[in-house]
Amino acid sequence: MTSDRKWWKERVIYQIYPRSFMDSNHDGIGDINGITSKLDYLKNLGIGIIWISPCFASPNADHGYDISDYRAIMEEFGSMDDFNCMLEEAHKRGIRIVLDLVVNHSSDEHPWFIESRKSVDNPYRDYYIWKKGKVGEDGTMKEPNNWGSFFTPSAWQYDEKTGEYYLHLFSKKQPDLNWDNQQLRKEIYDMMHFWLSKGVDGFRMDVLNCYQKPEGLPDSKILGTCVEGYSLDPKLYANNIGMLSILNEMREQVLDHYDTVTVGETSIITPQIALDYVNEINGPLDMIFHFDVVDSKKHFTWKHFKEVQRKWIKELTNGGGWNSQYFQNHDQPRCVTMYGDDSTERNRVLSAKMLGCLNHTMPGTPFVYQGEELGMTNYNYVDAEQMQDPNATFNYNEMIACGKSHEEAMKVLNLYGRAHSRTPMQWDDSLHAGFSAGTPWQVVHPNYTSINAKYEIEDKESVYHFYKSLIDLRRRHLVLVYGDFQEYEEENDSVFLYSRAYDNETIMVLINFTVKDQTIQYEIPAGKTVLLSNYKEGYCNRLRPFEATIFQL
Ligand code: GLC
Ligand code: CA
Repeated sequence: MTSDRKWWKERVIYQIYPRSFMDSNHDGIGDINGITSKLDYLKNLGIGIIWISPCFASPNADHGYDISDYRAIMEEFGSMDDFNCMLEEAHKRGIRIVLDLVVNHSSDEHPWFIESRKSVDNPYRDYYIWKKGKVGEDGTMKEPNNWGSFFTPSAWQYDEKTGEYYLHLFSKKQPDLNWDNQQLRKEIYDMMHFWLSKGVDGFRMDVLNCYQKPEGLPDSKILGTCVEGYSLDPKLYANNIGMLSILNEMREQVLDHYDTVTVGETSIITPQIALDYVNEINGPLDMIFHFDVVDSKKHFTWKHFKEVQRKWIKELTNGGGWNSQYFQNHDQPRCVTMYGDDSTERNRVLSAKMLGCLNHTMPGTPFVYQGEELGMTNYNYVDAEQMQDPNATFNYNEMIACGKSHEEAMKVLNLYGRAHSRTPMQWDDSLHAGFSAGTPWQVVHPNYTSINAKYEIEDKESVYHFYKSLIDLRRRHLVLVYGDFQEYEEENDSVFLYSRAYDNETIMVLINFTVKDQTIQYEIPAGKTVLLSNYKEGYCNRLRPFEATIFQL
């Protein structure tokens, strides 16, 4: 495995969803000054890098993932002065700031799109993907192809003004940008310079591997949904030829001029393609997020989880690329509910710590999503509307159209929906969890009266303190960052035993995924030090429920 030292390998990255993090002016919406007010909290936790979900001007059709001005701060979040102050205060504390680069699409309210839709010969027309409709067999006008979108049945929207359709992989308020247009690329690179020259430290890149659309936009061969017959084939929309050259150009024109970190969101990817993007010799990016764990959540097994880790370590990490580790983000349910056990308080605490231990001791840079360090849990929503998420509305309508009842559809959304991670951060036991004195934009989880940062900071046995210790351990033991990975008792799907070795230090991690005791063959040599465990009493060649113990050998 590579041992080229880099700051973004050694630090833990904390994701903030600004809308739900901290509201400083009590309008119910989290904001930039709210983030600034919590920098000491993050510093104390040990965080070295913050990734902030989009904080730019936006009509909020997708809560900021639809940007109408890439160089302005969203009004509800504050001003550019507030942003500058936050950046300066973060840097003062040694915390770096990563912004969300959302350039697969813009908002339909972006001036580029407003121009683009005016006429077929507008100078901005080609910034987006416009096509004439097809005449169907029955003589009616149809979409240019059968692509579906993630948020609507068809990926095409007809526009009266010019009688053509535009492509949108997400909502119709998120038209896809046309990366074949050189002028558009230049505008995006300039915008990146704008933020980086302010001192921003890098980008998380939204829907990264879809910028380049396939030549001719052929029909999808995958069978459509039961209702409309539209479908979305990853082979067509992701990782197209041309993607790598865009990223190389971006590296050369922008990123090479600064000391940055980049992480690309790549929902459909293999380690081989990932290596093209992130290999340390000439990969244009630093890391990607693969989806092999989170996308398997409906049929999740720990056996599968171990297979995924093995595959990525063997093919990416050992192949000369750097990985990321995460269980959760703003698009995923709360990880302790999803992969752990929040049915009792004891199990919630134990399993949240176990997940944290995995995340911080496997190869790759750990990402922690706001509230994960408290073991925050899923909220039980009553209907899709309450979730305030275009993806929830879409999935709900699909399920109803396919014959599911309201209860069945809500059951699915309550297990897997994106809204769980968007309930406000639980700071203390005061009104609205200390997030806001106004009415929060999104429902607050009622368990804030017992699960909140204030209590967890006071309680040395809390999930918070365990995360703090993990982050500290990873900072002090470079073996957890750069160490070679080796696995033991591979066939036992209830446990995960592995070592990391680097520079004369070996660390052993013992994980019990399950709520039951597990016996293992592995014997820790006598007299070895426990560096961290979610059990107080020493280890005994039997793994207790959700045990996570880290030894130094
Ligand atoms: C990414 C974001 C998600 C957003 C989508 C469209 O997947 O993480 O929140 O809805 O892109 O921008
Ligand atoms: Ca506010």
